[in-house]
Amino acid sequence: MQNRVTTSSLYKMKKDGKKITALTAYDYPFAGMVDAAGIDIILVGDSLGMVVQGKENTLPVTMNEILYHTAMVSRACSYSMVVGDMPFMSYHLSIEKAIHNAGRFLKEAGASAVKLEGGADVCDVIRAISKTGIPVQAHIGLTPQSVHQMGGFKVQRDEERLMADGLKVQEAGAFSVVLEGIPSPIAAKITQSLEIPTIGIGAGPDCDGQILVLHDMLGINNRTLPKFVKKFADLSLAARQGLKQYADEVRAGVFPSKEYEYK
Ligand code: KIV
Repeated sequence: MQNRVTTSSLYKMKKDGKKITALTAYDYPFAGMVDAAGIDIILVGDSLGMVVQGKENTLPVTMNEILYHTAMVSRACSYSMVVGDMPFMSYHLSIEKAIHNAGRFLKEAGASAVKLEGGADVCDVIRAISKTGIPVQAHIGLTPQSVHQMGGFKVQRDEERLMADGLKVQEAGAFSVVLEGIPSPIAAKITQSLEIPTIGIGAGPDCDGQILVLHDMLGINNRTLPKFVKKFADLSLAARQGLKQYADEVRAGVFPSKEYEYK
C-alpha cells in the first residue's frame, strides 16, 4: 500500500512535475472508491450543499453538517489526504473562531487539512490557522461563497488581482491553492509563479493538479454541468435503469424468484 499523501508529498509532486489528482467526496462508500483509485486529495467540499443536500448554493452548509460528512470520508481513507472545507461564516467572525472551527475538522472528523475561500482578504486567517499546525489550502478566483458579491458563478479575469492573491496566500502559509474559474493562461502564470501546488477547477491544463466535484464527474446528479466538467461515468442513468427494472420485476411478480428465497 502507498503511504498517505501529505503536504510534503504534494510539494514533491509539484517539484517533480507529477500531476496531483483531487476529487470531492461526502460519504464512506464513495470516499472508499476514490481512495482506492489512488486520488491524492479528497476534499469534503461545501459543494455538499448543492450536490447532496439539493440547495441552490453552498452558503447554508453548517459546521456540524460538514463535520458529519468529513468523519465518514476520513474513515474510508488510507491513502488520500482528507481536506475539510470551511463553510461560509465559519472563519469570518474572528481569528479565534476560525482557529476553533479549523481545529474541529482535525479533532472531531479526522481531516488532515482545511480549505477556505479568499485571497488577500483572508491572509490573517490563513496565517493564524497555519501557525497552529493545521495545513490550510486557499481557494481563489471564482469563490462560490461570494456568489452574491460576484453576481453569479462567473469566471474571474482580473489577472493582477489573481496573481497578487496567489502570492499572498502562499506568503501567509497556505500549503496549496485551488484556482477556480480562471482563464487557462492566467492560471498557468500563477502556477509558474508559486512554489505551492495549484489545484485547478475550470482553470485549464497547466495547474499542478485538477479537482472536480465527484457527483458531477460521475454523473450522479442529473443536472446541467458547467463547461469545465467532463462526465467520466453516468451513474444516474445506471441507477435509474436498475430502479425501473426493480419496480417492473416486483410488479410483474418476477422478483423475488426462487434463488432469492429462504427454503
Ligand atoms: O466545495 C467544493 O467542492 C469546492 C471545490 C469545487 C474546489 O470548493
